[in-house]
Amino acid sequence: MSNEKRLAGEAAIRYVEDGGIVGVGTGSTVAFFIDALADLKDRIQGAVSSSEQSTAQLKRLGIPVLELNATGPLSIYVDGADECDPYKRLIKGGGAALTREKIIAAASAKFVCIIDSSKRVELLGKFPLPIEVIPMARSLVGREIVKRGGNPVWRDGVVTDNGNWVIDVHGWQIADPVTLEKDLNQIPGIVTVGLFAQRAADVVLIGDREM
Ligand code: 5RP
Repeated sequence: MSNEKRLAGEAAIRYVEDGGIVGVGTGSTVAFFIDALADLKDRIQGAVSSSEQSTAQLKRLGIPVLELNATGPLSIYVDGADECDPYKRLIKGGGAALTREKIIAAASAKFVCIIDSSKRVELLGKFPLPIEVIPMARSLVGREIVKRGGNPVWRDGVVTDNGNWVIDVHGWQIADPVTLEKDLNQIPGIVTVGLFAQRAADVVLIGDREM
C-alpha cells in the first residue's frame, strides 16, 4: 500500500500550476506529495498547510508556508482520505486534522484526493467517522450520536491542533452522507464532521491512476 501512496503523491504533482499556491493536507500519503513538491519549490509561491505535522515537513524542505487569510482562494488542494465512495465522497480525520483540511478544501477550486486502493469503498462507514468536538460538549455529542444509532468512542489522549477532542463513530453504514453531514453539523459542540460529502473531491488518484 505504501507504494500506491507514493505513486498517488507523485501523480498529484501534475495538477500543480506554475506560480501557484498549493493547499496541502495531512497524512502519510500527503507526506509523499510534499516530498515531490519540494522538487518544484522554485516554481510555486508556497503552500497553505492543514496541520502542524505538514507545516513542519514543508518548512524542513524549504517550501514557504502561507496563511489562508493572506492568500485568498486556492486553485488546488491535495489531501488523502480514510475512505472514498464511488461519488468521491470521503471520510477523513484519521490524523485528527479534519477541521483545517475542510477549511482549505472549501477554499479551493479543485480538490485532488490521493489514496491507495484499500481506501476505496462502496459505502462509507467501515472506517469509524471522526468528529472534532469542543471538549465540554463531548458527552452531549456522544448522546446525540447514540440517538442516531452510532457508537461513539472518544479518541482519548488526542488533542487537535485547534485544542479540541475527537470522537470516532463506529457502526454507521452511511448511505446518504450529505444528509448525515448536514444533520451532524447542527449539533452544538461539533466543530467538524469528518464527512467530506457536501464538498467532495473533484479528482481521486488511486496510486497513479485516476478513478
Ligand atoms: C488526516 C486525514 C488523512 O488524509 C487520512 O487519515 C489518510 O491518511 P494516510 O494518507 O496516512 O492514510 O484525513 O486527518
